[in-house]
Amino acid sequence: MSRLEALPPYLFSALDEAKRRRLDAGADVVDLGIGDPDRPTPAVLVRAMQEAVARPVHHRYPAQYGSVEFRRAVAGYMRDRFGVTVDPVSQVLALVGSKEGLGHLPLAFITEGDTALVPDLGYPVYGQATLLAGGSPRPFALRSQNAYLPDPRALAGMADDRTRLLFLNYPHNPTGAVADAGFWRRMREAVADTPVVLVNDAAYLEVSLDGSRPVSMLQGADLERERLVELHSLSKMFNMTGWRVGFAVGNAEVIARLGRVKESMDSGVFGAVQETAALALGNGREELLAKVMGAYAARRRVMLAALERAGYEVFPGGATFYLWVRVPGGESSMEFCSRALAEIDLVITPGNGFGPGGEGWFRISLTASDEAVAEGARRLEGWR
Ligand SMILES: Cc1ncc(COP(=O)(O)O)c(C=O)c1O
Repeated sequence: MSRLEALPPYLFSALDEAKRRRLDAGADVVDLGIGDPDRPTPAVLVRAMQEAVARPVHHRYPAQYGSVEFRRAVAGYMRDRFGVTVDPVSQVLALVGSKEGLGHLPLAFITEGDTALVPDLGYPVYGQATLLAGGSPRPFALRSQNAYLPDPRALAGMADDRTRLLFLNYPHNPTGAVADAGFWRRMREAVADTPVVLVNDAAYLEVSLDGSRPVSMLQGADLERERLVELHSLSKMFNMTGWRVGFAVGNAEVIARLGRVKESMDSGVFGAVQETAALALGNGREELLAKVMGAYAARRRVMLAALERAGYEVFPGGATFYLWVRVPGGESSMEFCSRALAEIDLVITPGNGFGPGGEGWFRISLTASDEAVAEGARRLEGWR
């Protein structure tokens, strides 16, 4: 079987097809399925980009590993926001979005027959990228009764001499679960004497809607010694999913290996995008973040109130722009979400699409307009 054929099937094709049929029939479908910000990138960043685009220096190949300016901005952000000191040259790498880094990391560490530990439930890319690199993903369970956090020692105990990577993702898509500094310390300690590279997908690190500020895995770490890498993204921070920019920060050897893979794959992030991203991470960052997250927080309140009135059980994760809700009445996730589409023209995501551990739950995305979220909330509340 080829590596491509080894990829798992796409679970949502039947649901996508049903949605297309409802739309073709002229139905007023409310789509709270995908997690792609509906609002535009802040105007100050769009204007900066418009100016940057006109500079001929950016019309040539960009700095492959990231411009000095961009990598310094990343180092400044890591220091100001998390108290983490990184060397902008050897410990920072520009990415074409965090997904690109996740996709390429297995190629840097995995040879045929190696394994990576991947969360069940979780974003499917960790396992898929491992398969494409010729490795085998080994799922570990995240469950609601443990607040979707693994036991660090038990997890480290799953690693054997073929395990190269361990993927975590906090704040967690789809549940919104958050890892605190104590968890990260225990997790780092648990893998400290193994050759496993600990990866945190931090795409949602700034998407916190309950007023808390999630922490970085790297806080308090010794990056000279510990084999850690954290992948960040501007996509969700500043409504910039279309721009394709993120960064990897971590141990210099891990960063160098990922950089070497990328040298054969892409030629870096468009210079004008890097220039604008450096601006976004700089001085005005907190103000921009407060505006972007404030809009989701308001929608979250509307949706939570409706779910509560209707008696749904919502997992109390305060991060990401998703709500993770238990399917009532013992139906499967897929049955419930198919019925929501058929009966109230509402698109929500069945939890099992994120792995078997998501069965019995569904995900609501808050990245549709205020009106759409309010209408979705009304429909869900009236439906029960
Ligand atoms: C958990 C998680 N990680 C990474 C990504 C990729 O984000 P990007 O490549 O835009 O940085 C996504 C996108 O939805 C995601 O949900």
